[in-house]
Amino acid sequence: MMPRVTRTRAVVIVIAIAALILLGIALVLVSGLGGDSRSPRADPEDAAQVARGEQVYRGHCASCHGADLEGQPEWRVRLPDGRLPAPPHDETGHTWHHPDAMLVRITKEGLAAMVPGYQSAMPRYGEVLSDDEIWAALAFIKSRWPRKVLEFQSDLDRRARGQQD
Ligand code: HEC
Repeated sequence: MMPRVTRTRAVVIVIAIAALILLGIALVLVSGLGGDSRSPRADPEDAAQVARGEQVYRGHCASCHGADLEGQPEWRVRLPDGRLPAPPHDETGHTWHHPDAMLVRITKEGLAAMVPGYQSAMPRYGEVLSDDEIWAALAFIKSRWPRKVLEFQSDLDRRARGQQD
């Protein structure tokens, strides 16, 4: 017979080890699944998200970026105040040159988040729209891209996500 104290300690150690193993398994599961299912997505194939995003886009973005995502006229030419007009979000613009996380960040924090001190007419939506609404607006924008553009940007986005993991 082991003395009582030693036996209690042995039980505690066994429980602690079991708990650590379970925690380890849980962490592996969470990180394994996490990459894809937990990080937010802008999915142009998700009809519900696209429909939500269209509402957001029409209500908050279309006045500058265009009802048909066409942007403002002469969008490459600076205005007299030195700012740029709103670029298109369709395939003629450069939205699709950027990964999702960057587009969401620009929408939330404005372009100065990328280029400190940069003066821009692009508003910041971080306190106006929820993250969900912003991701949905992006899903709507993507749903309007031709296949080739969508594939290009998906590749770029996949690589950017990979670097973050
Ligand atoms: C008041 C006009 C205005 C509104 C409204 C507006 N934007 Fe913009 N947006 C701009 C301008 C202007 C730029 C380009 C800024 C620059 O380069 O200085 C821009 C740029 C962007 C860019 C960067 C594009 C790129 O290719 O680099 C994203 C993304 C963007 N807007 C998303 C949105 C979304 C999403 C909404 C609605 C939730 C929205 N914008 C509403 C004016 C606007």
